[in-house]
Amino acid sequence: MNGADFLQLDPNSAPQGARMAWLTEQLRAGIADGRLAQGVRLPSSRVLADELSMSRGTVVEAYHRLMEEGLVVSNRGGGTTVANVIPATAATPAAQQPQDPGRADGDGIDISSGMPDLSAFPRAAWSRAERKVLSTATSRELGYADPQGVPALREALAGWLARSRGVVAEPDQIIVTAGVTGALSLLAQVLRNRGVTTCAVEDPGADGNRRILDYWMDGLVPVPVDEDGLSVDALAQTSTRAVIATPAHQFPTGVVLSPERRRALVAWADRANGVVIEDDYDAEYRYDRAPVRAMQGLSPERVVHVSSLSKVLAPALRVGWMVAPAHLRDELAEKRWATDLGSPALMQLTLAELLETGALERHLRTLRKKHRERRDAAVEAIAHFLPGCKIEGIAAGLHLVVMLPEHLDDKVVTERAKREGIAVHPLSRHGFTTGVPGLVIGYGPHPIPVLEQALRRLGRIVAGCTS
Ligand SMILES: Cc1ncc(COP(=O)(O)O)c(C=O)c1O
Repeated sequence: MNGADFLQLDPNSAPQGARMAWLTEQLRAGIADGRLAQGVRLPSSRVLADELSMSRGTVVEAYHRLMEEGLVVSNRGGGTTVANVIPATAATPAAQQPQDPGRADGDGIDISSGMPDLSAFPRAAWSRAERKVLSTATSRELGYADPQGVPALREALAGWLARSRGVVAEPDQIIVTAGVTGALSLLAQVLRNRGVTTCAVEDPGADGNRRILDYWMDGLVPVPVDEDGLSVDALAQTSTRAVIATPAHQFPTGVVLSPERRRALVAWADRANGVVIEDDYDAEYRYDRAPVRAMQGLSPERVVHVSSLSKVLAPALRVGWMVAPAHLRDELAEKRWATDLGSPALMQLTLAELLETGALERHLRTLRKKHRERRDAAVEAIAHFLPGCKIEGIAAGLHLVVMLPEHLDDKVVTERAKREGIAVHPLSRHGFTTGVPGLVIGYGPHPIPVLEQALRRLGRIVAGCTS
C-alpha cells in the first residue's frame, strides 16, 4: 500500500531524496502535537516500511534519530514506544490521556455489500484477551460499569482514533454504543429533544442508517451526492439542522467528500447551529493511498464522529462509539444510561486488551491486505464478465458500485440474480428516487474463486437482461 493509517502518512508528499528526514519530521510532529502520546507503540519498521513503500533502513534510521532526540525509547522485548516527553505545542486532548465464502445457500452466493471477511475473525487473539480479562478483572469490574463505556476501552479508543483517524477526543467524550446504529438512535433522540426533528441524508445514502433515523425522527431530507460527495449548497437550501454523511468513503457511491466541501459543511453547521454526523464506517480500508483524516478534527464541536467494529471485527459484537461534542455529551451519556445501562463490560475489557496489545491493529493489517486483493480480483472480473459496466468510487472499503446499461432496471436485475442464486443489492435501494441503475457489490467475505464465479454468473444475467 502506498500510505499508512498511522498518522495518515502519505509518502507522496515526501521530497525525493529526503524521505528519511521527512518521516522523522512527521513522527516528531505527531509527538509534539500529542497525536502520539507517551507509551504509544510505533509500528514495526518492517510494517511501516511496507506500508510506505520505503526501505526498512529508512524507517530504522528515522526511529534511530528520534531515539537520539529522546523522543522514543526502544523496549527490551523489541518495539519502539513514545518516551515521556512534554509536547512542544499545546497537546490535543487525546494526547493527555494514557494509552491505555462465499456464503452459499444451496449453490447461491451472497455478494450484497457490507461484510468483512468474517472467517478471518481473530479467534485465538480474542480468546487470549478474554482469558486475560477473566483472570485479572476485579470484582468491582464485574458489577455495573460506567454506562458511557468502561474507561480502559474509552482510553484505548481515544489513542487509536487519534493515531489512525486524526480524531481529537478525550476518553470522556467517547460513548460506547451498540454499533453505528446504536449511536444514531441515541443521537436522533437527543436531537429531537432539542427541537431538531428532521435530518438530512445523502441521496443515495445508506439504506440501513436511513431507516434507523426515519424511525426516530419526524422526517428525512434527501440531499444529492455528486463526485465531490454531499452537495452542501443543496443542504443549505433546506431548513434542517442535522445531517449524516460518509465523508471518507461515501456509501454507496464510493466518492470522497472533497476538502472544499468539508470546509463548506463545517461552515454550514456553524451558520445553522447544526450538527454533522460523520459516519466513518469503513475508513480503515483505503487501498490506493493513506486514508483521508476524519472530519471531526476540523470541528470537534460541530461534528459527531461515529464508527464501529462491524467492518474490522464482526457486526455480531455490536460495538461502536461516538465522539460527542461537549454541548451534547451529558445528554447523550444520560440517554445511554437510560436505554440499557451500557454495553457488556467484559466484552469492552476484552476489546481494550486487543487494542492495548496491538492485536486489533495487526488483525486490521492482515484484513486490509486480503480485502485489497479481493477488490482487485473483483475489478478484474467485472472488466471481463461485465464489459462496458463502469466501476464507480475510490479503491477503498468493502464494496464497489457497478453501473448498468441505462435502459436496465436494477431491481429487475437483482430479482433475476436472486432467482439464479446470487444475492446482490440494487443501487436504487439506497436512493430516494430510482436514479441511474447499478449494483452494489460486496467483495469482503469471499475467496477470489468464489467472487469470480459470482461475477461470471452475474455477467450472464446482465447480458440476458440486455438482449
Ligand atoms: C454506511 C454504513 N454505516 C454504518 C454501518 C455499520 O453499522 P453497525 O455499526 O451498526 O453495524 C454500515 C453497515 O453495513 C454501513 O453500511
